[in-house]
Amino acid sequence: MSQTSERGQWSSKIGFILAAAGSAIGLGNVWRFPYVTGQNGGAAFVFVYLACVLIIGLPYLYAELALGRYAQKNPVGAIASIRPGSAWVWVGGLGVITGLFILSFYAVIAGWTFGYIFKMLMHSHMEFTSFVANTPIVIFLFVLFILFTVLVVYGGVQEGIEKWSKILMPVLFLLLLALIVYVNFLPGSGKGLAFYLKPDFSKITGKVVLAALGQAFFSLSLGMGLMITYGSYISKQDNLFSSGLWVAIADTLIAIMAGLIIFPALFAMNQNPAAGPGLVFQVLPAVFEKMPGGIYIGAVFFLLLSIAALTSTISLLEVPTAYLVDEKRVARKIAVWVVAIFTFLLGLPSALSQGAVGWLSRPIVGGMEFLSLIDFLFGNISLAFGAFLLSIFVGWVWGAKHAAAELALGYHGSPALLKLWSFLIRFLVPVFIFVILLNLFKIF
Ligand code: PHE
Repeated sequence: MSQTSERGQWSSKIGFILAAAGSAIGLGNVWRFPYVTGQNGGAAFVFVYLACVLIIGLPYLYAELALGRYAQKNPVGAIASIRPGSAWVWVGGLGVITGLFILSFYAVIAGWTFGYIFKMLMHSHMEFTSFVANTPIVIFLFVLFILFTVLVVYGGVQEGIEKWSKILMPVLFLLLLALIVYVNFLPGSGKGLAFYLKPDFSKITGKVVLAALGQAFFSLSLGMGLMITYGSYISKQDNLFSSGLWVAIADTLIAIMAGLIIFPALFAMNQNPAAGPGLVFQVLPAVFEKMPGGIYIGAVFFLLLSIAALTSTISLLEVPTAYLVDEKRVARKIAVWVVAIFTFLLGLPSALSQGAVGWLSRPIVGGMEFLSLIDFLFGNISLAFGAFLLSIFVGWVWGAKHAAAELALGYHGSPALLKLWSFLIRFLVPVFIFVILLNLFKIF
């Protein structure tokens, strides 16, 4: 894809699906989904999560794609092209800022992931907690990951990344499948499977529903205009319904698979499911150590996960960059560096908040230290709030009729689906998000 002078377009329908799935599939599935599930009681959370993806996430995804393809712009420009000069433009701005904050801590976790490749290969027995508290290591890895992201976006080697992703993501899928089989044979794993799959519905509280909604948006890369931006590169002949559906299916499948590994392994090793952001980094290396040739399998696993994270950081960098290029007429190569430096400054406290600097590592509010708090505020609340506003914008301000007309291009199925979608985006999606967001008052 090239968008230097004129707007680029995905080479094909599959090109969009791969890029959007590349954005959606990442640390959100393998790192965040298991730890949030663990903190929110297991199977009941998984049930609510799936409901959120289906009833709220998927219809809302179509709203972002339709708006993007219609306006052919980044989120700010797309909204401005429909309601120029109105306060709605700020909703696009909120998306750009949210993207910057998510990238700021996401690159920290991606740095750990990359570092774990070498940690595995070097047989290092350094504890996770000492690893993430080591200032030079975490800063180095954090900067390195931002640089990887910049180089890919800057150098325009996206095509290379797309080509490699086509080969490597199926490898990640197969590796996850093999790991599912392996860990479920470990003694004691059955209890983990029950924790993950046998819902105890009495565990569903407002806090659980809020966490599930936020996780659905985070994992599908929704609520900050990313899919507006990616939608703007889709051809008018493509069916947005089926393209979006494939992305959601792939994303959900990978998350569910990650859980099928982590929870059985965790219970087999008597670890605590509510351990928080370190969960995956504590459980999986212990599994790899037990396996024959496990250090190599572990190294390959963290390499593939790093690449999955890279296709997500690329997309996160793309939103603020596209904004600066389209709206502020900044040269693309300069915009990329500006965003990168900003990301570094914003992410520095997150990088240092896992033990490296004492006062940053202590809980600030609701038991969350700096990184978890930024993750909660931007990776959860801000996405949900952005989606609430954008669903109203698409359903009522731009109008569900216009949006449905855009969705109808390239779609040859029954008009009933368009009717159903219009109802969902105007009523069900914003009302559900609003009601779920009210639970915020119980947390703070
Ligand atoms: N969806 C990505 C993941 O699950 C994270 C992301 C969120 C990317 C928002 C872009 C926008 O890892």
